[in-house]
Amino acid sequence: MKLFDPHGLGSSAVSYAGLLEKIEILRSTLRWAPRLERADIEKLLSQSNTLRDEVLQLSRKERFVEAAEREPEAFVAADLSARARRQALLDRSFIFEGTFGDNPKLLAALEIAEKAAPTDLPVLIDGESGTGKELMAKVIHANGARSDKPYISVNCGAIPDNLLESELFGHKKGAFTGASNDRKGKFESAHTGTIFLDEIGELPLSGQVKLLRVLEAHEIQRVGSDQAIAVDTRIVAATNRNLRQMSEEGLFREDLFYRLSVIHLTLPALRERRDEIPLLFAYFGDEAAEQLKRRPVKMTPRLRDFLLNYAYPGNIRELRNLIYRVSCLAAETADLEHLPEDIRPKPGGAALRADADGGDGVAAVPAVAPASLAEAKRAASDEAERAFLERGLQETGGTVAELARRCEMNRSHLQMLLKKHGIRSKDFRHRNGVGRG
Ligand SMILES: Nc1ncnc2c1ncn2[C@@H]1O[C@H](COP(=O)(O)OP(=O)(O)OP(=O)(O)O)[C@@H](O)[C@H]1O
Ligand SMILES: [Mg+2]
Repeated sequence: MKLFDPHGLGSSAVSYAGLLEKIEILRSTLRWAPRLERADIEKLLSQSNTLRDEVLQLSRKERFVEAAEREPEAFVAADLSARARRQALLDRSFIFEGTFGDNPKLLAALEIAEKAAPTDLPVLIDGESGTGKELMAKVIHANGARSDKPYISVNCGAIPDNLLESELFGHKKGAFTGASNDRKGKFESAHTGTIFLDEIGELPLSGQVKLLRVLEAHEIQRVGSDQAIAVDTRIVAATNRNLRQMSEEGLFREDLFYRLSVIHLTLPALRERRDEIPLLFAYFGDEAAEQLKRRPVKMTPRLRDFLLNYAYPGNIRELRNLIYRVSCLAAETADLEHLPEDIRPKPGGAALRADADGGDGVAAVPAVAPASLAEAKRAASDEAERAFLERGLQETGGTVAELARRCEMNRSHLQMLLKKHGIRSKDFRHRNGVGRG
């Protein structure tokens, strides 16, 4: 029986025409087959899985492009060369795995990932919680030569110390109480593929020594066995901690840090890519609608303003969760009432400010209706600007230079804005100390 060759139809460049052709071949194979052998069924199943993955990949690409087209104003401010860079990645059939965004820092990370993916070099990804480290690890695997081999993820922070070695390297039957069978570890499972060592900064020093040995020798020993087993795995590690600093403080082995970080990628926090927030609304709004089987939710202007100016300490994960939440709770149009209570602005116009009750500084809902639309816009924009500055100073412990660096602003311009709002940076110095990140 002749089956189509999934690699012979230009599967590297995903296109509708190519996919339709493959689907037609698959259909005619099924229609004309008098009787299928088990082996043929399995082959067809694997071909349809490949097709499904390609269709998914295509739909992600299209979603990316569509969302970008629906939010053109977000691009007015965006760097045009950034659009060209994203397009170039798309043209090279780069697999984004749903990674969205045009921020120059994110694009730089994706471009490094593209170059690193086909190699076996270890990659260390760092960035705050929710910035997409795990997603980036999948991107690296998907674009590499090992993409059809196992991708094994290990959360180093979630394994109790006494089980760590057995979890990573496996054990022999009877090696310890409870070891009733021989068991493969994560490294063996990831043989020929990629192992993702998540939260590597949480690995205790004893585990670090053992890991280092594997990276040097490319072999493991199951607990209770003295037989060395060769493993060929590509290592991608991630952390939201500063490993360089930890190694200076003796909390992380310096030699391991250098071994893991041959390629070092840092993902930007959402507050460093605020220009993309409207695009992310459209993107996750569509995604949520698809998943919840509803029409994309609309937002009232005040909810939109709030979400545009919110600080997102949980980064993209938090933004995504908020969009899913309002898409689930609202009928046609979502409003402030659909936000979780702890971040919702208080009714009556009082902004939920850090200095009032330890919450997040966010745009207030005006108490008195403004006289005109222009006045309303100006007031909202002023309020958002003020909330943003206060929030930033809170996070940086009142250090203007650091805030200027984080939002890539000129320091004297920032000083001028602070003056305009009558905000004194020193008022933020003795509060919660230096904030996140
Ligand atoms: N650039 C992006 N485009 C689209 N979705 C993203 C992007 N970055 C992150 N996400 C989404 O945000 C969520 C969090 O991402 P991920 O789990 O990769 O973050 P993380 O950095 O590993 O977080 P943590 O440190 O808390 O483990 C996921 O749902 C992910 O799909
Ligand atoms: Mg993670």
